[in-house]
Amino acid sequence: MAIPRIFLQCLIFIESIFLYWAVTRLRYTAQKCNQVRPGDSQVIPYSTLPTIYIVTPTYTRPTQLADLTRLANTLRLVPNVHWLVSEDSNSITIAVTELLESSGLSYTQMAASRPEEMIGKVIGRGVFNRRAAISWIRNHGSDDGIIYFADDDNSYDVRIFEEIRQTRGVSVFPVGLILKYGVSSPIVREGKVIGFFDAFQAGRQFAMDMAGFSVSVRLLKARPEATFPAQVSYLEEGFVQSLEVKKEDLEPRAEQCTRVWVWHTRTERASTPKLDHIREGGWTDTNLPKLYSGLHAS
Ligand code: UGA
Ligand code: MN
Repeated sequence: MAIPRIFLQCLIFIESIFLYWAVTRLRYTAQKCNQVRPGDSQVIPYSTLPTIYIVTPTYTRPTQLADLTRLANTLRLVPNVHWLVSEDSNSITIAVTELLESSGLSYTQMAASRPEEMIGKVIGRGVFNRRAAISWIRNHGSDDGIIYFADDDNSYDVRIFEEIRQTRGVSVFPVGLILKYGVSSPIVREGKVIGFFDAFQAGRQFAMDMAGFSVSVRLLKARPEATFPAQVSYLEEGFVQSLEVKKEDLEPRAEQCTRVWVWHTRTERASTPKLDHIREGGWTDTNLPKLYSGLHAS
């Protein structure tokens, strides 16, 4: 039996009315969602967030690219960061440049070596390359930015970067996996820093790890003499002292220093790939030489 034409037309008409109603409802709901009511937390557009200048000192060794890749992947989750990768060497390395390029991050690569007498020694490790990055920030950093020293082998929860972004002068927060206590943390009472829980006190006024504080660019620029001393185990102490801040002025972050959102992990040493291994096996006409060229092989 044929369906009467009039019935079909009525059906289409009713369906059109329903669709019109559905579209109107959707538009209304979308408008409601976009309205900001008093008291609502607003989503701040990325472009207005202060920049975090992440300073990473680094040096050539077999695990370097693995460490930097892990850090790059973390930083890709953080808006408005500028990554300053500063090599402890006379010149920048191509493998690091390639890594930075492919990360898609905003970055500056630089290199600074130590004076002759410190080469190969513990003294001076990470000092001159960090100094170079500080000097770059003094010249190019935005006043409302923040500086954070993120070593290449640590592990970072992305929440720590939003804590860092709040820094007005110097922010401080716990670092996990440090020495005998398994953590290094400011001691906070009634919202104020009263000391430091850290197994390595050694007469330090600011017994913190490098990963446990961040500094506003404005403060850094206001202290033109602030720098890292070439003094083993006293880099953090020397730098924070040179900022001329008082303990009471430190800003406890990470829920009043009750959360660990950065860990002092350390990458196990690995052996250096040797081109001799390929030659000995007679594999010079295979993929292996090309594979080795990116491995800091010798
Ligand atoms: C501890 C602290 O967590 C570091 O922040 C501090 O710089 C270091 O001690 C020190 O006083 O030398 P640790 O894990 O023992 O860290 O040191 P590394 O991770 O080996 O080095 C810290 C950073 O400096 C890394 O990003 C590393 O790549 C870099 N580094 C290390 C150099 O730039 N040059 C070096 O010769 C060695
Ligand atoms: Mn380390």
